[in-house]
Amino acid sequence: MPDSPQETLIIGGGIAGLVLALEIADQRPVTLLQPSREALGASRWAQGGIAAVLSPDDDVEAHVADTLVAGDGLCDEAAVRFTVEQGPAAIAWLLSLGVPFTPDPDPEARYPYHLTREGGHGARRIIHADDATGRAVVETLRQHVEAHPGIRLRTDLTAIGLIGDAAGHCRGARCLDEPGNLVELPAADTVLATGGASGLFRHTTSPDPACGEGMLMAAELGAELMNLEFQQFHPTCLFDPDGPPFLISEAVRGEGGHLLDAEGHRFMPEVDPRAELAPRDVVARAIDAEMQRSGTDHVWLDVRHLGEAVIRHHFPTIHAHCAARGIDIAQEPIPVVPAAHYSCGGVHTDLDGATTVPRLYAVGEVAGTGLHGANRMASNSLLECLAFARSCARRLCRAVPDENAPLTPWRPGRTAIPEAECGEMLARVRTIMSENVAIVRHDAGLATAEQRLAELAERLAPRIADAAPSVSLYRLWHALRLARLTVASARARRESRGLHFNPDCPLHGDPAPQPSRIHLGDLAPSAD
Ligand code: SIN
Repeated sequence: MPDSPQETLIIGGGIAGLVLALEIADQRPVTLLQPSREALGASRWAQGGIAAVLSPDDDVEAHVADTLVAGDGLCDEAAVRFTVEQGPAAIAWLLSLGVPFTPDPDPEARYPYHLTREGGHGARRIIHADDATGRAVVETLRQHVEAHPGIRLRTDLTAIGLIGDAAGHCRGARCLDEPGNLVELPAADTVLATGGASGLFRHTTSPDPACGEGMLMAAELGAELMNLEFQQFHPTCLFDPDGPPFLISEAVRGEGGHLLDAEGHRFMPEVDPRAELAPRDVVARAIDAEMQRSGTDHVWLDVRHLGEAVIRHHFPTIHAHCAARGIDIAQEPIPVVPAAHYSCGGVHTDLDGATTVPRLYAVGEVAGTGLHGANRMASNSLLECLAFARSCARRLCRAVPDENAPLTPWRPGRTAIPEAECGEMLARVRTIMSENVAIVRHDAGLATAEQRLAELAERLAPRIADAAPSVSLYRLWHALRLARLTVASARARRESRGLHFNPDCPLHGDPAPQPSRIHLGDLAPSAD
């Protein structure tokens, strides 16, 4: 039984989880699970900013229209409109908490904070804290969370599964502590804020992204997942095979950066009239094609023409980071390559973050709200975290406790599966996904991925019931099944749309396309 009949468990301490915790903690007791590896989670690495209609020269209809275009026909317009309409109030709330957004130094400015531009946006509407917005927002929210007496922050636990009951409701989570002991956290309501699934791929824009653990935990309870085939690759990650990943923000192109091929020629204007500010799927695909054409392993992002003062003013973090890695971006172009960045699909939710499983919610990148459609527009992700965490909080504050049905029993096994073996198998999953399910996927590659992942699952599945739970084992087991669901979703989409580009079915199909929906039970039974 939970400590209180109103106990809320939030799994994930990025921006979505922190916002939700703060918004309900005056009314309901909250436990916020922020495993220590989440210090590396995606929110903190977000550089660009938060898209919102803030300038008097901008309007809601324009932001809605740009989002629908970037989403390539697959956005849920109601979700788009809802999110965009929440923007100004959400930003005002962040300002009231003290987030240090960058002011506009221009005395004639029509809005007091500087608004930058990014791909797909027809107006300047990205509010930011220099080029380290995610870090600034996380740090401010975290200070408030730590000071709130109603929030129990647990950094010592990692969730490995959800607790269900005989009525099919979610009743909390099973976790492991640092020594590996099982700890059950019962809750009246459980919220996943666990991030996306970019960790299913080998090259990513942040050092240790989630591998879809939250999506799979929800699927184990029967939740519907949607649009898994739309994995976003950010066009410009620093190319440095020997160093850790580092994102070069889209705001760099927003402020005038140019993409150059191996011969120093600017190639984007020939690909799309929006050039470097086309939506991300278009730019990432163009870079991929350019690398294939020239046989090189990166292209160049050039900002030298902006001048050193502008570069240092707008991009202090990127300037300093590149300098530390031996690149003076005021003097030389930056080598860049696309890398896995963001999952546009996830656990299907309504506008309050409610999933198809009673008492289970999902907010942030783990959720599939319909906002992003087939391709997320830049800086709509932090806006989504804010809008949906706040609406989910309002819903939870109205929720009344229900009858508890008997919990579904779970007995952990005892046979240890070595961490090294789990790591090696996860690396294999990533290789299969990167080679076959990346920016361009062909029928043959998808079939190969399906077969290889099924073989891995057949090897692992019989050992799971007897296995002693460990974080590395559950990370692998969740990732492997989510990868299979992703491949199944990609195989089922017989068209090319947004981030899903398959030359074997190159046409945009249905003029009224449907999101893909999938359940764990749709996989062949051998793997579960
Ligand atoms: C960026 O700064 O380019 C990343 C922000 C985002 O993914 O929207």
